[in-house]
Amino acid sequence: MDTKIYKIDLEHIDASIMQEAGNLIAEGELVAFPTETVYGLGGDALHPEAARKIYSAKGRPSDNPLIVHIADFADLERVAKEIPKQAKLLADAFWPGPLTMIMQKKESVPYATTGGMDTVAVRMPNHPIALELIRKSGKLIAAPSANTSGRPSPTEAAHVAEDLSGRIAMILDGGPVGIGIESTIIDLTEQVPMVLRPGYITPEMLSEVLGEAVIMDPGIIAADDTTKPKAPGMKYKHYAPKADMIIVDGDKDAVVKEINIRTKKAKQEGRKVAVIATEETQQAYDADIVLCMGKRDDEDSIAKHMYKILRDCDELEVQVIYSESFQTPRIGQAIMNRLLKAAGHKVIHV
Ligand code: TXA
Ligand code: MG
Repeated sequence: MDTKIYKIDLEHIDASIMQEAGNLIAEGELVAFPTETVYGLGGDALHPEAARKIYSAKGRPSDNPLIVHIADFADLERVAKEIPKQAKLLADAFWPGPLTMIMQKKESVPYATTGGMDTVAVRMPNHPIALELIRKSGKLIAAPSANTSGRPSPTEAAHVAEDLSGRIAMILDGGPVGIGIESTIIDLTEQVPMVLRPGYITPEMLSEVLGEAVIMDPGIIAADDTTKPKAPGMKYKHYAPKADMIIVDGDKDAVVKEINIRTKKAKQEGRKVAVIATEETQQAYDADIVLCMGKRDDEDSIAKHMYKILRDCDELEVQVIYSESFQTPRIGQAIMNRLLKAAGHKVIHV
């Protein structure tokens, strides 16, 4: 299949391209599009055949459910059996935005979309192209991240093309995304609202709006793979670069020292090494490649660069990656959740 790639000017969104894209969705085809978090691979959410195409294009296990993207709060009624009162509160506070909510599904939502589950994940993205695509298609759009299963999520259209060219009908290129990590997922079907995937919106922010406690899925906090996370997608080794990756955690100077010792050793063994560093430390490393995530106290920049840097490591064919750790105050948990998975939970504390 020929994949059409269109560059979209965010200031003047081309209505005819958006209509062409919307028609493809309505015909059951797949279109990749930008959201504020990562690029999504969209198909008609209520059409089981579209869901099957999504799983096949990504090479994703079909028991891993898709998020349904909506453009208006009223659309929620089309997929949710009942709308919990918490959903209204959270939507008022965070939609459109990087928050996905899980509720009981209506019969109209095919099991192909929900990976066989009786619940459905819903999100209203905060991106003009995503919202316009949903409206022009006249459908609700099921969309996982637009990467091949197991690769880092795409934060630029070029990443989508790299993974999915020839496998989908169209890619809408809206430039690099704003946030760079996937939405926070909150499960509203539990006694106590539970975060199944940490993201830009923190449990504290959710709890403040709800006026009640919000807990983190114990399967996410677990330092290893012994406790199973509730979101099926969180159990897979995700976001993984091809190289062997190790995170070094601790005091800044000790981390630099440890990484330099290990880098030297790996180089002597003839292995190509990359170090994932920050502006404050990048000069201190003696590796083949030093990749900079941004300033240490600028968490947004770290989130935004992470997946691109992991992809760059693949591109540069490095064999070993040493990464600093990023226990930043607000979204550090979301960042480290991804980075730990990329490293297969290999961490050295110094
Ligand atoms: O930011 C995002 O959420 C992006 C953009 C494109 O919107 N989408 C995204 O989708 O990250 P995906 O498919 O890569 O991740 C969806 C996650 C998976 O871990 C999946 O298991 C979980 O959501 N999920 C979806 N429906 C669920 C359900 N009913 N119950 C539990 N987990 C669910
Ligand atoms: Mg994904």
